[in-house]
Amino acid sequence: MAQADAETRDMAAKRLSRRAFIKGVVAAGAVSCAGVVFRGAGMAGPKSSSASVERLISLSVNGQKRHVEVTAQETLAVTLRNKLGLTGVKIGCDRAECGACTVLIDDVPRYSCSILTHSVRGAKILTVEGLAAPDGRLHPLQQGVLDEQGFQCGFCAPGFLMAAAGFLATNPEPTRRELARGVSGNLCRCQDYDKILDGLMRGAEYLRKG
Ligand code: FES
Ligand code: FES
Repeated sequence: MAQADAETRDMAAKRLSRRAFIKGVVAAGAVSCAGVVFRGAGMAGPKSSSASVERLISLSVNGQKRHVEVTAQETLAVTLRNKLGLTGVKIGCDRAECGACTVLIDDVPRYSCSILTHSVRGAKILTVEGLAAPDGRLHPLQQGVLDEQGFQCGFCAPGFLMAAAGFLATNPEPTRRELARGVSGNLCRCQDYDKILDGLMRGAEYLRKG
């Protein structure tokens, strides 16, 4: 009996800590990524001196005006992560294949690893850090993922959330198949697609209910 109680307590503690983990992932993309090779433009090889000159520009990120110095060839993913501290933007492939770096630009999902930062001056940029309400209330999609306990390691979560947010703005009542197609530009190396879709479908439902 005492052993059964201890096991029940143990399972409850594990559920709680997994919930806390997923909440961190969906709210700010906070996830450690051992084994992932980051190949940001900031880590690329030697550059010519003119290419490495930084110029001060301003960007609109998550509803705030941000001033930042960028080089001509710097990608938005590198600027957001390395210079603005928005590490919810992940860099997986760094070549427009995995979707981990997806952000919304003027409400459209885009791969930030494949966009030059200076080309989005004047655009409205939204990262996973800006998805929740200003009072900290999770976005319905984040809540849906949390409630369904979706994602395993969580590395791909911010990209999926941003892709889904952009897709649902154009198709608020998708079938599961349509939503799957809507986020098909995003890959999950944990292959957790069923759980991810469960969470996103639940989130879409919350979104419709307001
Ligand atoms: S890191 Fe941008 S698509 Fe993979
Ligand atoms: S949950 Fe691990 S990469 Fe998708």
